Amino acid sequence: MESEKIIVLDFGGQYNQLIARRVRECNVYCEVHPYSMPLEAIKEMNPKGIIFTGGPNSVYKEDSPRCSKEIFNMGIPVLGICYGAQLIAYLLDGKVETAPVSEYGKTEVEVDTRSRLYEGVSPKTICWMSHTDYIAQAPEGFRTTSRTPVCPIAGMENEERGIYGIQAHPEVMHTVEGARMLSNFVYNICGCSGDWKMDAFVESSIQSIREKVGNGRALLALSGGVDSSVAGVLMARAIGEQLTCVFVDHGLLRKNEGDEVEAVFGPEGPYNLNFIRVNAQERFYKKLAGETDPEQKRKIIGEEFIRVFEEEAKKIGAVDFFVQGTIYPDVIESGLGKSAVIKSHHNVGGLPEHVDFKEIIEPLRMLFKDEVRRAGLELGIPEKLVYRQPFPGPGLGVRIIGEITPEKVRIVQNADAIYREEIDRAGIAKDLGQYFAALTNMRSVGCMGDVRTYDYAVALRAVLTSDFMTAEAAKLPWDVLGKASSRIVNEVKGVNRVLYDCTGKPPATIEFE
Ligand code: XMP
Repeated sequence: MESEKIIVLDFGGQYNQLIARRVRECNVYCEVHPYSMPLEAIKEMNPKGIIFTGGPNSVYKEDSPRCSKEIFNMGIPVLGICYGAQLIAYLLDGKVETAPVSEYGKTEVEVDTRSRLYEGVSPKTICWMSHTDYIAQAPEGFRTTSRTPVCPIAGMENEERGIYGIQAHPEVMHTVEGARMLSNFVYNICGCSGDWKMDAFVESSIQSIREKVGNGRALLALSGGVDSSVAGVLMARAIGEQLTCVFVDHGLLRKNEGDEVEAVFGPEGPYNLNFIRVNAQERFYKKLAGETDPEQKRKIIGEEFIRVFEEEAKKIGAVDFFVQGTIYPDVIESGLGKSAVIKSHHNVGGLPEHVDFKEIIEPLRMLFKDEVRRAGLELGIPEKLVYRQPFPGPGLGVRIIGEITPEKVRIVQNADAIYREEIDRAGIAKDLGQYFAALTNMRSVGCMGDVRTYDYAVALRAVLTSDFMTAEAAKLPWDVLGKASSRIVNEVKGVNRVLYDCTGKPPATIEFE
């Protein structure tokens, strides 16, 4: 099924993905592409509308990213946001200058509600502003549709040509009526009908997977995480027995997790999957023995994962398709991103080199995380699984600082299980983005039952985040922390101290390594 499409052209703004997500929240399919995408390629995609993102540059500087002004002659509505709005002004011979006063933060903007972009929006509305340049003069044929005291052209449009510019960021939550503005653009201006729904996605994916795979065989590395689980169930729905799922237990899973994954996806579970569990715990511990460097630990776990997987694949024999649970943010980031490497690649392992397969299938590659979850629900995967918090591929390996030993794995598994239990009991799990226990490499002196102890300190972490790119430490109720701490110290041998991590991201990261 061919969905209606909006294209976001990325000019380097930090909210490019967010724009696409917001458009999809309006039930309209949306893709992000580099600003340099040729007009021919845009035409071929037959989009209903185009959105220019913001960006850190000044349009009038020579090497700033720009597209051809022919884009405005394609008969496709265009919305420029921030830098994107300035670019419209610049390309169509308006004037963009450094503003006498830059604007940053929540700002009251006066909007002309006769504009189709602002239909139903309050005449004075709070928007998120972040700019040092501004449109000093709109191009000929444009009228001003919004303003602030220091930004006289905070919005402009040429309704006849379907070109709209807005200095504020409608995609950011702080722009109170931003969702309305984007919805106005895609429905009122681009004429979309809203055909992007997860039930239709699931049905059409099943069809196209069947066509692609034919009588072939496919192999999937199942971690039990949301993405690979949804990919697995979707694939199984499409091709049944032709799919084999390999689950590698690397001994760095949460307490009882290996058995839980097996219970859901194994022979006793409801999905009728060809499921193979590989218990490779000892093998991983041996490889990791003595290693303390975080990056090396990640690499060892990733490589060993691939080796185990390859060995299993060899036993199965030649497969035609290798299935990966890649999702859209991975696609955007690897295609467009230029950000610095903070930690080595997040997906454990990457691609096996020695597995004999012809092609890769990534059935979720066009979905955002929330869409993967909704697809999972459509497929009948239980909510508990679909709304699991993320768990890193290297598992507890990045939650044990310093050398990994089976003893330390036991400690962190037990402490984490208690912590999760207490959070569940307090009924606050749904308010938290992610929470877990980690094992610091620090030992300190304590006193238990009149006996001196010299044991480990466990660190508890809980963060609030929606995108996992930034996060703030959650202010957990003191009684929950107190209960968890006292149980951990009493019930987990080898721990005599519990610390709470109050750091946000940045400057810290969510995981410890
Ligand atoms: P950081 O620690 O970078 O983590 O702030 C951001 C989010 O990514 C998860 N994470 C990983 N996920 N493989 C994964 O699949 C990894 O190697 C990995 N490292 C971190 C982390 O749990 C958090 O949700």
